[in-house]
Amino acid sequence: MSKSERLQPDQLRSHRYLGPDDLRSFGHRSRQKQSGFSTEEFAGKPVIGILNTWNDLISCHAHFRQRAEEIKRGVWQAGGFPVEIPVMGLSETFMKPTSMYYRNFLAMETEEVLRTYPIDAAVLMGGCDKTTPALLMGALSADVPSIVMPGGPMNKTSWRGEPLASGTDVWKYWAERGAGRLSCDSWCELEDHIAASPGHCMTMGTASTMTALAESMGMTMSGASSVPATHSGHSRMAAATGRAAVEIAWRDLRPSQVLTAQAFENGMTALMALGGSTNAIVHLLAMAGRSRVGLSLEDFDRISQRTPVLANLRPTGKYVMGDFFEAGGLRALLARISDLLHLEAGTVEFRTLGESLEGAECYDDDVIRTRDNAICESGSLAVLRGNLAPDGCVIKPAAAEQDLLRHRGPAVVFRDYPDLKARIDDPSLQLTRDHVIVLQSAGPLGAPGIPEWGMLPLPRYLLEQGVRDMVRISDSRMSGTSYGACVLHVSPESFAGGPLALVRTGDMIELDVEARTLNIDVTEAELASRREQWEPPEPRFTRGYGKLYEEQTTQSHEGCDFRFLHHDGSDPPPPAIH
Ligand code: FES
Repeated sequence: MSKSERLQPDQLRSHRYLGPDDLRSFGHRSRQKQSGFSTEEFAGKPVIGILNTWNDLISCHAHFRQRAEEIKRGVWQAGGFPVEIPVMGLSETFMKPTSMYYRNFLAMETEEVLRTYPIDAAVLMGGCDKTTPALLMGALSADVPSIVMPGGPMNKTSWRGEPLASGTDVWKYWAERGAGRLSCDSWCELEDHIAASPGHCMTMGTASTMTALAESMGMTMSGASSVPATHSGHSRMAAATGRAAVEIAWRDLRPSQVLTAQAFENGMTALMALGGSTNAIVHLLAMAGRSRVGLSLEDFDRISQRTPVLANLRPTGKYVMGDFFEAGGLRALLARISDLLHLEAGTVEFRTLGESLEGAECYDDDVIRTRDNAICESGSLAVLRGNLAPDGCVIKPAAAEQDLLRHRGPAVVFRDYPDLKARIDDPSLQLTRDHVIVLQSAGPLGAPGIPEWGMLPLPRYLLEQGVRDMVRISDSRMSGTSYGACVLHVSPESFAGGPLALVRTGDMIELDVEARTLNIDVTEAELASRREQWEPPEPRFTRGYGKLYEEQTTQSHEGCDFRFLHHDGSDPPPPAIH
């Protein structure tokens, strides 16, 4: 990562497309001129690909067309040649069955776009949940110099004098409506206020978590992930990212040089200190699978046990991302845990993480807590194992009612999500807060796409009694904006024959977060007998993306990437085909 080694213009990847005096390069140059550019504008300059995940249905990225222009401004300023390339926008709200089903699709598209076009460096425009990990997965596989431009959180907003948190408060007010305490008109009024500007969800949900992790791992400009999407500083950051992209092109700084084992440890440490989304576990595992870095679920538990939660952000805390920015943002938080970080890790700004944190200050000790006043001293995420999850599962203890973290109760089993929706409010089930709600067929293959169903709904009649949390177990994920005693990512999943498929209503379930265990109190002989009777479901897809997905998707503890896209120990393919 030394600044001393600088490529010559004829060493750029793009030179192979645009430089030589041959027939193909003639074609390439003539088509640049067809677009209205003269030779002086592109000859000998790094080509910067701006991978824009904008579309009309990804409202979190509504500002991305303007930001792409600002990135171009920075690229021109630094002597590069910008080219904007639209890639699939993964809209968390609109994509069905779930945007996660298409994360690997965008990762593949990113990898191949970077490989096939004459790109010397890329700006990855990510924000809404799955976009950031998908772009990074693709960039890691192509190993073309890349920098992330985080989309930024949406504006703070309020309703009837109460601050609102996108995502998190949807769940809260939906529960209130279920309990009969919110009218239909009020619910409709809430629609006007819950997402009041461009930008990703302003809680510490998956989007905020993943952009913060990209910064902690050295893949953004310092401070970039905390800037609100509509703040003028976001435009300035976009232009600065464009300038930085030109520099990483000249220095040929590859993602594999930045996303080292140290960077992954820094990312996991930031995840814990932020009280971030459980989804980050799946995404970091997938990113590690694209690199030479070995990562397992136990690494997350190990780092969780040594890292305090300092960010007082919803859904586990009180504030939203706008408050976090005003309090000093991610740099202030990382500075408070600098002893837990690999400060010597490099960044796309050609300085160490430690150097990028110099001068970071916190301006509000309630938003970013001090070490002696942490939200919780450690253990924001816990990895559990047991006979119900031999390959592991996760829970976010800080987001649960604490008495439920050690719990024994009878299971009530729903065979899939439609079954859950149809029967959860049926009073004849006679559920109490002691029951454990179990959902099957909600995992990577079963749903498919491991949707965010993990915050399973509570029965309406228990909501009316004031119950707000119960132990819930599934092989699905949970939105980073959700909360509750929800055991997630049970692996292997039920659809693939994991023990979750064998649970029956009435079985006693034992959860012990402190002991890191999740067990079903059924004899081995009985489980073996049930396994004998279990019939694997028929494959759902005979063609298309679904077939590829079904054949290649790994389980949650492996990151749910496609098997054939894992780094297999061989050298990465050459970045340019020409
Ligand atoms: Fe885009 Fe929440 S819906 S980040």
